[in-house]
Amino acid sequence: MKFTFYGHSCFVVETGGKKLLFDPFINGNELAAGVVDADNIEADYILVSHGHGDHVADLVSIAQRTGALVIGAYEVVGWAEKNGINNVHPMNFGSAHFPFGKLHFLPAAHSSTMPDGTYGGNPGGFLVHGAEGNFYYSGDTCLTMDMQLLPRYAKLDFAILPIGGNFTMDADDAVIASEFIQCNKIIGVHFDTFGYIKIDHELVKEKFNTAGKELILLGIGESIEL
Ligand code: NI
Ligand code: MN
Repeated sequence: MKFTFYGHSCFVVETGGKKLLFDPFINGNELAAGVVDADNIEADYILVSHGHGDHVADLVSIAQRTGALVIGAYEVVGWAEKNGINNVHPMNFGSAHFPFGKLHFLPAAHSSTMPDGTYGGNPGGFLVHGAEGNFYYSGDTCLTMDMQLLPRYAKLDFAILPIGGNFTMDADDAVIASEFIQCNKIIGVHFDTFGYIKIDHELVKEKFNTAGKELILLGIGESIEL
C-alpha cells in the first residue's frame, strides 16, 4: 500500500489499484499552500470522517473533477449531493462492501457540522479491510474504549491517528489508542495546522518509541510504501 500525505488529516492510500482519498482539505491549509495543488489530486473514492471544514473543504471540487465515489455519514453525503455531487454512498455506523474491500464506519467522539451550519450526522472513523492489508483511520476523536474492538475486527498493518490535542487526542492518548487497536505503526495527522495543535515532532516520536511503537510524521506531499 502506498500512503501519501496532503497535510492536516488529508491523505491518499493506494490499495488494490484504487486510490482512496480521505478528508480532502488543501485550500485553507496555509501549510499546504504552494506545496500541494487540490486540482491535481487523483481519487477513485473519497472517504469523509465528518463535516468540519478542515475535512471537507475540497470535497466537492475534487469529487466533481475526478468522479470519485463519496463515502461518509448519511448527512455528510447529503450535503455533498446538495452541492451537486451524485456519485455517493451514504453510511451510518456499520460496514459495507466496496470493490476495494470491506469498510467499517466506526464511532468517533467529536462533533460534526457542515460548513453551511447544517447537521453533519455522527463523526466517525474508517477501518479498511483491503486486498493488500488492513488500516484504520480514527478521524477526529478523543481516546475511546470503542477502539478496543478493533483487534476483534482486523489485524492492522498501520493506523492513522490524530496527535495534535485540543480538538482530538494528543500524542499521549494516541499511544494508548495504538495499544487499544494493537498496532505498532502509526501515522500521525491533525497536528501543526493551527496554533492550538502545534507539536514538538521529536518529543511525540519519543513517546511512541518508549511504548515500543513507531510514529511516522510525513511532510506535506510526501509518500511512503507500507
Ligand atoms: Ni473536526
Ligand atoms: Mn479536524
